[in-house]
Amino acid sequence: MTKVIRAEGVSKRFRVYHERNQSLKIALMRGRRAKFDEFWALQDVSFDIPQGTTFGLVGHNGSGKSTMLKCLAKILVPDRGRIAVTGKVSALLELGAGFHPELSGRDNVYLNGSILGLRKSEIDARFDDIVGFAGLEKFIDTPVKNYSSGMYVRLGFSVAINVEPDILMVDEVLAVGDEEFQRKCMEKFKDFRDQGRTIVVVSHALGTMRDMCDEVAWLDHGRLQAVGKPHEVVDDYVESSHGERDTEHTADGGVRHGSGEVRVDGVEVLGADGQHTVRTGEPFTLRLHWSATADVQDVVMGIGLHTITGQHVTGPNTKDAGLRLDVRAGSRGSVDLRVDRLMLLPGTYDVSTGVADATLAHAFDQQARAARFDVMPGTPSERLGVVSLGGRWTVEGDR
Ligand SMILES: Nc1ncnc2c1ncn2[C@@H]1O[C@H](COP(=O)(O)OP(=O)(O)O)[C@@H](O)[C@H]1O
Ligand SMILES: [Mg+2]
Repeated sequence: MTKVIRAEGVSKRFRVYHERNQSLKIALMRGRRAKFDEFWALQDVSFDIPQGTTFGLVGHNGSGKSTMLKCLAKILVPDRGRIAVTGKVSALLELGAGFHPELSGRDNVYLNGSILGLRKSEIDARFDDIVGFAGLEKFIDTPVKNYSSGMYVRLGFSVAINVEPDILMVDEVLAVGDEEFQRKCMEKFKDFRDQGRTIVVVSHALGTMRDMCDEVAWLDHGRLQAVGKPHEVVDDYVESSHGERDTEHTADGGVRHGSGEVRVDGVEVLGADGQHTVRTGEPFTLRLHWSATADVQDVVMGIGLHTITGQHVTGPNTKDAGLRLDVRAGSRGSVDLRVDRLMLLPGTYDVSTGVADATLAHAFDQQARAARFDVMPGTPSERLGVVSLGGRWTVEGDR
């Protein structure tokens, strides 16, 4: 089979700056040399992707999946190695990337379509399909800065698939949409495959990766750990995650990046009465302690909740909740996410934190697995799965 993507010995290096609590811009304006370390986000990664197949990338947060995808999409240039891609690529990478916040959904469709190589007449012809697939008919003339993250993803995905690429690349965004939209996306992926197109997908939804991919690559700290049959690679990956249970516990221990103007300095997990024991069915609060080194308007804070095997459970943020947050240089405070009745079932969960601008495209501070907590058994006393629906069983009929 023709290989449409070949990655050979790909390595990518980033610089990490050590001006704690200061943005790079401030450091530069003061004429001070910013201190930095270099580290390799990808090291010597090689694989081939045959035409018409679906290829998945799995790995912990920070393992280099997004960096790899950006290299394949030619948004980043590798420092070593080679990448050869044959065909027209359409990529849905970061949430909100490529959208202009002040412009309406309509204008952004045209902007994005033209970036992806379509003429105006071609976009005109597809416009209704794009908006219809995204289900955004009513909001298409609203500036996208007022969109929820789900709306962003729907529009971004819809544009990406409607430009009819040979190769579609999708990074970790499907978890954001609702069930209905996810189902539509899966159908689209299937159509794409049937049409002989190639898909490269990053996802924490390991069950979906097992089902939809022809091959899966597992990245671990920037290195290719395995590549092969989906169930084998995914099982090995899950297996290895269990072993790490106690080693990556602490705040600041996880992977962190962002420009630093607003940061989350700590995460508190509080159960009923402010105790640290958390139980199913009881009140629950996640408290993010933040500090700011610059005036920033319209900051969005949020969390990602994952099981320890990497399954994304939920990702609430202040923007989707309609909360507006402006911060001043030198200020600090906390935001609470309060839950009256916790529907998570007993197990161990990781909290990632994120602070971003209103478009969610720019990260001020992102920390993978900033905290970890255990949920103890409570009421309802269900055992299977991740959440309780809080449902009641009733029986009718002769007994
Ligand atoms: N632009 C960047 N500058 C510096 N470090 C980065 C940049 N982008 C990603 N990183 C770092 O590179 C590593 C790999 O990140 P990423 O590819 O986003 O991982 P993943 O998508 O698997 O979570 C992480 O340590 C991340 O913090
Ligand atoms: Mg990523």
